[in-house]
Amino acid sequence: MSKKVKIVEVGPRDGLQNEMKTLSVTDRVEFIQRLVKSGLKFVEGGSFVSPKAIPQMMDSEGVWEGIKNLKEDFSFLVPNERGLERAIFAKVKSISVFTATSNEFNQKNIGMSVKESLTVIKDLVPKAKEKLKKVRIRGYISTAFGCPYEGPQKPHATVKILNDLFRMGCDEVSIGDTIGVAHPEDVKKMIGLLRRNKHFKKIALHFHDTRGMALVNIKTALDLGIRIFDSAIGGLGGCPYATGSSGNVATEEVIWLLKGYGFSTGVSLEDLLETSKWIETKIERRLRSKLYLSQPKRLFYGGRGRES
Ligand code: COA
Ligand code: ZN
Repeated sequence: MSKKVKIVEVGPRDGLQNEMKTLSVTDRVEFIQRLVKSGLKFVEGGSFVSPKAIPQMMDSEGVWEGIKNLKEDFSFLVPNERGLERAIFAKVKSISVFTATSNEFNQKNIGMSVKESLTVIKDLVPKAKEKLKKVRIRGYISTAFGCPYEGPQKPHATVKILNDLFRMGCDEVSIGDTIGVAHPEDVKKMIGLLRRNKHFKKIALHFHDTRGMALVNIKTALDLGIRIFDSAIGGLGGCPYATGSSGNVATEEVIWLLKGYGFSTGVSLEDLLETSKWIETKIERRLRSKLYLSQPKRLFYGGRGRES
């Protein structure tokens, strides 16, 4: 199995959208520049959503303007037609589209039932491909393991939506444990249903660490062949429409885990920890990442010498 793992850093979007403090465009640009300097190649840069709904993502056009000359891949979330118009006008190179397994969550989040959002996506994808040359499109399926309103979700619902999203032209689909309720056994079950899927290599998993299970879930998924994971530096994040959802799994913890297993990530842990320190001063609250909070002076693994 491949020893290469793709990390999609979602701190600047999934992370910051849930912070009390709204960062300026200048700070968001610097944040992303720091993330790519540490070696992250895929970063979610922001979202073209309503600034009334999510003021933290206001002027994502300005953020794109500040990073568009960098070579890394920056995606921007597009919830509807209006969002796509903004993405086209800004000439972004990657977008993500959004749905969920839960109708109630989707309704609260983007004002559409799951079915309605799939209809919108079916319309958005070809338009995006026509107007934005070589655009990369990522699909999100939120609440795949559980919804704050509807409770447990059926894994088959995720499989069906995932197939729809690939059929509509998505290049990658991220399955989200939006409120962090997945147990490793649930992850196993989900992956079991997807193992023979022809798009298996293009499936990402997106864990939140609400119950402290995110890293175990990642390890479980790794063992079963998943090679794309979403994470946010410092464990930033959550979701404003999902009460009780704590942050995303922390990027530095994922990288530490992966390096210890000999996976190549191309990311510098030292640089990540520096950026965690920096973003903490900007959001004006303590981060939750345990690796960061332990302030390691040396990033060694117990019994195996120093981390390089
Ligand atoms: N970008 C900017 N503004 C937008 C927009 C977009 N993509 N889509 C809608 N708007 C504006 C409309 O112009 C309108 O503005 P007005 O009140 O000044 O006239 C207002 O938002 C309401 O528009 P409406 O079409 O009635 O949508 P809504 O109120 O049902 O909101 C969304 C729908 C999708 C725009 C809104 O719920 C949203 O942005 N949600 C995003 C949530 C999110 O980012 N979640 C992240 C995943 S956890
Ligand atoms: Zn999330």
